[in-house]
Amino acid sequence: MPTVMFTCAGQRVDIVSAFARAGATTVAADLDPLAPALYHADHKALVPRVDDPGYVSALAALVAEHDVALVVPLTDLDQEIVSAARSALAPALVLAPAPDVCRTMGDKYLAHAFFEARGIPSPRTWLPGEVPADARYPLLVKVREGFGSRHIYHAEDPEQLAFHVRTTPVESMVQERCLGVEFSIDVFCDTDARCLNAIPRSMIQSKGGESIKGESLQDPELIEHGARVAETIGIVGPANIQCFREPDGSLPVTDVNPRFGGAFPLPLAAGSRYPELALALARGERPEPRLGEFRAGVVMTRFFSDLCLVTDGDGELVPFAEELPEPIAAEPGET
Ligand SMILES: Nc1ncnc2c1ncn2[C@@H]1O[C@H](COP(=O)(O)OP(=O)(O)O)[C@@H](O)[C@H]1O
Ligand SMILES: [Mg+2]
Repeated sequence: MPTVMFTCAGQRVDIVSAFARAGATTVAADLDPLAPALYHADHKALVPRVDDPGYVSALAALVAEHDVALVVPLTDLDQEIVSAARSALAPALVLAPAPDVCRTMGDKYLAHAFFEARGIPSPRTWLPGEVPADARYPLLVKVREGFGSRHIYHAEDPEQLAFHVRTTPVESMVQERCLGVEFSIDVFCDTDARCLNAIPRSMIQSKGGESIKGESLQDPELIEHGARVAETIGIVGPANIQCFREPDGSLPVTDVNPRFGGAFPLPLAAGSRYPELALALARGERPEPRLGEFRAGVVMTRFFSDLCLVTDGDGELVPFAEELPEPIAAEPGET
């Protein structure tokens, strides 16, 4: 059984459990002893903050202790750090693109400049103060290093633009608001950034930037687009590519997260087999691309779940499982 370590495991019970079902032994690492994913892994590990000088050595010690074959960073928080620590974490494979790719995609202005230079469509974007007179309103004042749909302000005219540029508390850019329908494409690439699959989905409903309802779509144009964008960027492992389909037919890319997306369970249910592909890469295999091989029409609807913990005799938090009470009524069909 290959062992997979997840960093910043947080709430990603869905991902840890999916790798376990794919045959992996799992190690979940997090700073917070109340991170739910810790309690769904075979081994849990409390580690320092990602910006602590001892963070990488703590991860390297876990790689050695558990004979980890694959390291999967689950959030933006430590992706660049873990990617840059590739040699310190060897012989485990780090499932992330090169550090400069993580950095570029983590800054939406740098990402836009990269897309323009590489022929990937992207909404017209400027630094505040460089917005030309012919910019098409509505405009967005959008945080450069953002997540969770935070710090995005809509401006309908130059006066509102000036107001939001002046009052936003974060370093921002100005971007034309897309007019079409938004899509998200969950891709997976091998260690040579060859795209193995791309699964588009609709955004039926999102909350705080996370898609909570969506449907897998057999849309050849979006599949092709997702694969081309992923390969141009140099994605290694999973990424989530967000784009719009505009009235003129263009597909401007607004956000790329080089990690498993929040809606991971949907492509999984649609047959992505991304955990199996990740394990194959860890074994040094080279799986063949199967672009478009997934089930369309799978609809996901997400909800909160919970876990109760108690302190055991050693002062460790452990899952609390109370004996089920005796049935107080007969089962249906019994007397
Ligand atoms: N240029 C744009 N036009 C229209 N909507 C946008 C644009 N940029 C962002 N949005 C909306 O805001 C949401 C969050 O923006 P995004 O760039 O994905 O940042 P993040 O997910 O990192 O917070 C998007 O899912 C989309 O609905
Ligand atoms: Mg986004």
